[in-house]
Amino acid sequence: MSKPVVIPPLTQKGHAAHCNRCLAGLPASLLDLDGSRMAISFYCLGTLDITGLVDQKITDTDRESWKEWIWDQQAGGVYGSGFRPGPFMTTTENQPSQHLATYSNDYSTPHIIMTYCALLSLAILRDDFTKLDRKGLLQFLRSCQGADGSFSTIPGAGDGDLRMTYCAFAISALLNDWSGIDAPRAFAYLRRCRTYEGGYGQSPTCEAIGGPTYCALASVYLAPPHLAMPLTPAERKQTTRWLLQTQNETGGLSGRTGKLADACYCFWCSASLDILGDRALLNTPAMAAFLASCQFNFGGIAKAPGTTPDPYHTYLSLAAVAIAPPETEDGSWRLQPLNTLINATTDTVKWAKEHIPARAY
Ligand code: FPP
Ligand code: ZN
Repeated sequence: MSKPVVIPPLTQKGHAAHCNRCLAGLPASLLDLDGSRMAISFYCLGTLDITGLVDQKITDTDRESWKEWIWDQQAGGVYGSGFRPGPFMTTTENQPSQHLATYSNDYSTPHIIMTYCALLSLAILRDDFTKLDRKGLLQFLRSCQGADGSFSTIPGAGDGDLRMTYCAFAISALLNDWSGIDAPRAFAYLRRCRTYEGGYGQSPTCEAIGGPTYCALASVYLAPPHLAMPLTPAERKQTTRWLLQTQNETGGLSGRTGKLADACYCFWCSASLDILGDRALLNTPAMAAFLASCQFNFGGIAKAPGTTPDPYHTYLSLAAVAIAPPETEDGSWRLQPLNTLINATTDTVKWAKEHIPARAY
């Protein structure tokens, strides 16, 4: 009989402190992430949200100034409107005014992944979304979809992959409006990303990876019934089988067949299994023990034991735990429940769905 897995405590407060520090400014070790500032902000705020510490850690002044910073990134123009990664490299005439900057160069256009991150960050901060240009956002989604059904990061970039397909689906679900997506074309592209292993590659002909597999499955299950294109029972079984083999002897999950375990894939792969209804087939205590070993002594979770923590791996590790927290005597692994398809707490998704689509265009 195998020995029961010993799960060390989850040091939630330290992880929240790491993310709080990164909200104030990135440490030198993470400066290359500055170009994705909106995404980093989302992972930091998401960590405070999932640990239930938003009200305790964020002052009213910070809450207001962060909301204002996010709205300052909303930019509109001929391709519609959405949110930029940050104010980097924008020229003076492109600085925001009236909460809807116009874009006129490649560095101030909205970006579809950052738009998904901005909407959820605003929901975590319980913004009322009165400043959202909803009509422009739907136009932006339409402008990002290419002839092959994929979505690019910015209109016309031609860099489509499943991450952006997922963001288009998640944004449409939050808006409760699917008129920004040509769903049959989007699904035709998504199906071309499916591989012989049962996972999905980032784009057609690519190897199966946990992240794109989550993006594909979440998109399929977010679509409303009249647009849905479900997997066949045989496909579901094959995908579950591939996802289960990503858990290796460390207890952690890897992103690709035969690669090392990585904390972020504990989310991408276990969330995929959760979507398919097969999450219970994973060894939860072993996964928790792996994530515990990725904890940094001074707060934050790293991709693997002994490496540097960052907000992305911290948030996704906690999100993986929140889907199915292990029972421990100290109760340290209890987190706020997660909406697996949107990847935010159920309370935050409820807030977003109640406020984002509420107003007429
Ligand atoms: C390889 O990383 C992984 C990819 C190229 C795909 C990553 C995609 C996601 C994580 C989905 C992100 C989703 C959204 C919505 C932004 P690697 O070579 O570092 O990992 P590996 O060597 O362990 O496979
Ligand atoms: Zn990772």
